[in-house]
Amino acid sequence: MTNIEITPEDRFQADSTSRNAEPIFAVLQDLLPTSGTVLEVASGSGEHGAIYAPRLPHLKWQPSDKDPKALKSIEAWRLHSSTANLLPAVEIDLLQFSQQSVPAMEDVSAMVNANMIHISPWQAGKNLLALAQSVLPSGAPLFLYGPYRRGGEHTAQSNVQFDDWLKSQDNSWGVRNLEDVIAAALECSLEFEEIIDMPANNYSVIFRRI
Ligand SMILES: C[S@@+](CC[C@H](N)C(=O)[O-])C[C@H]1O[C@@H](n2cnc3c(N)ncnc32)[C@H](O)[C@@H]1O
Repeated sequence: MTNIEITPEDRFQADSTSRNAEPIFAVLQDLLPTSGTVLEVASGSGEHGAIYAPRLPHLKWQPSDKDPKALKSIEAWRLHSSTANLLPAVEIDLLQFSQQSVPAMEDVSAMVNANMIHISPWQAGKNLLALAQSVLPSGAPLFLYGPYRRGGEHTAQSNVQFDDWLKSQDNSWGVRNLEDVIAAALECSLEFEEIIDMPANNYSVIFRRI
């Protein structure tokens, strides 16, 4: 994000982020390591980093997204928060993922991704897992947040409607089956560790790099 003019108006707020920021933080504060860099993929507005980085001064928070508008918002939130351990966003488009496309990043010790794998093609989700395999050291956590089907079934009627809406936007989107994510993760040397019930029929899903 160099040579692009950023104004306070570039900072946008996502209602869902305001609702989920604290429940997610309650999980992250016990999960994240004591040092290194947290790579957040698909940061969206950038509010999570702006809220969490000041509370995690022992870590660096590295936001990213593929969308130019999101990248501007992330940068605007970073400037607004003026938190030294919140790093300038890097551009990561998971659909363009290859080992060569991973931006240079220091010392990634955890990866976080919220509300993306159902709002993107399944290939983006699989590439998220491949990215985690590529950047995480053995023992490091991957944290996912969002709705999931379990055993092929939706876990709430509201998620049935949400899934229909997602597919009406793009038929490659949709609420993923947890077991498919776990199987794809294992192919990327990521072992399923825990699933935690979250508000509004969402889940935190934690993997660990083997
Ligand atoms: C619903 S927003 C979630 C934002 C944020 N993580 C949150 O929970 O508030 C989904 C984000 O995924 C990003 N995204 C979608 N497809 C992507 C891809 N192929 N690579 C990287 N990011 C992607 C979008 O640009 C968007 O910012």
